[in-house]
Amino acid sequence: MIETIDSIDIDFHKLIENSLNAIFILGEEGKIHYCNKAVLRLLKLTSIEEILHNSLYNFIPTYIHGVCKERLNNVLLNQQAIDCIEAQMIRKDGEIIDVEVKTAPLKLGNEVFAQVVIQDITDRKLAVKLFSEREKLASLGQIAASIVHEVKNPLTRVKGFLQLLKQDQPHNFLDTMDSELEKALTILHSLLFVSKPDLTDEPFVSIELSKEIESTLSLFQEKLENVKLVIQIRDSNKKVVGKRNSLLKAIFNLIKNAIEAISEEGTIKVEHYYQNGWVHVKVSDSGVGVSQEQLKMLGTPFFTTKDHGTGLGLTQVYTTIYDQGGDISVQSEVGKGTTFHVKLPALKE
Ligand SMILES: Nc1ncnc2c1ncn2[C@@H]1O[C@H](COP(=O)(O)OP(=O)(O)O)[C@@H](O)[C@H]1O
Ligand SMILES: [Mg+2]
Repeated sequence: MIETIDSIDIDFHKLIENSLNAIFILGEEGKIHYCNKAVLRLLKLTSIEEILHNSLYNFIPTYIHGVCKERLNNVLLNQQAIDCIEAQMIRKDGEIIDVEVKTAPLKLGNEVFAQVVIQDITDRKLAVKLFSEREKLASLGQIAASIVHEVKNPLTRVKGFLQLLKQDQPHNFLDTMDSELEKALTILHSLLFVSKPDLTDEPFVSIELSKEIESTLSLFQEKLENVKLVIQIRDSNKKVVGKRNSLLKAIFNLIKNAIEAISEEGTIKVEHYYQNGWVHVKVSDSGVGVSQEQLKMLGTPFFTTKDHGTGLGLTQVYTTIYDQGGDISVQSEVGKGTTFHVKLPALKE
């Protein structure tokens, strides 16, 4: 039907066909009688024919079939609309996405169908999850900081008495005890540092990250024997504002992890460039990679898969980057490698 408003023709069929939300008209057993173009994007299909006259249940994980059937029957038989619910769908390539679904009865002729409007909320859910992960990190950090304070003082006293004992009566057991204690104190110190980066009274200064990257890489010279290093620095004069030592330590930790991820031979690529107000730093390696499960754990204090790891390196990286108004993302594939992508707000010139 065509109507006019202020001399503009509105073709309602076109409006629905091109709506940004995915729209379906369903019959019994979820049979798809109609769907608009947004469905192609939603489910990554190439043509509507791939889905038309099929059942929508083919694109819904089986664990929610029961509840979906119940709701659809309610719409078709009792003609009741259903409030917005969250569900999941399966794309053609197998990817599972989070969706928000609204359903209402639609009478066409004598028959009642269900009109279903679906919106992809995967990005929104991810943003909420990331936010809660940052909160989790912050509260874990607070707990860690208070434990560190409690434990550090007695250990420091023990270390003092050990020194006295060693002077009195040297013994190699005492030396071992001393060095083990030193290790524990170093871990506690770095835990304090990563859990409360804002406590370190470092001033904010303007930094040319590209120079810092180059000098950090030089620290790893002898560890890079079997590793091909590719450095790609663009926009080297762009500056960021931040705490210099914390940022250097973050870059150091990312490169150290990349080297440790390569067991025999491999490549590490470090990139620096400016884009849309941000200075980007990418550290990619062709190392072992991490599984999707482990990916979620990265940055959590004490998460480590290494025999002698502390699981504090990435916590330092994440807290430092967030603390300085930046963002960090990671992509990884087991056996292929990992890329950490850091963004920091560039200093306006
Ligand atoms: N570049 C990388 N490639 C593969 N795994 C990584 C990489 N960076 C970090 N990881 C994983 O994250 C874990 C935590 O890293 P981190 O916090 O630096 O602690 P640590 O290096 O002491 O284990 C590592 O044990 C490893 O499993
Ligand atoms: Mg590390």
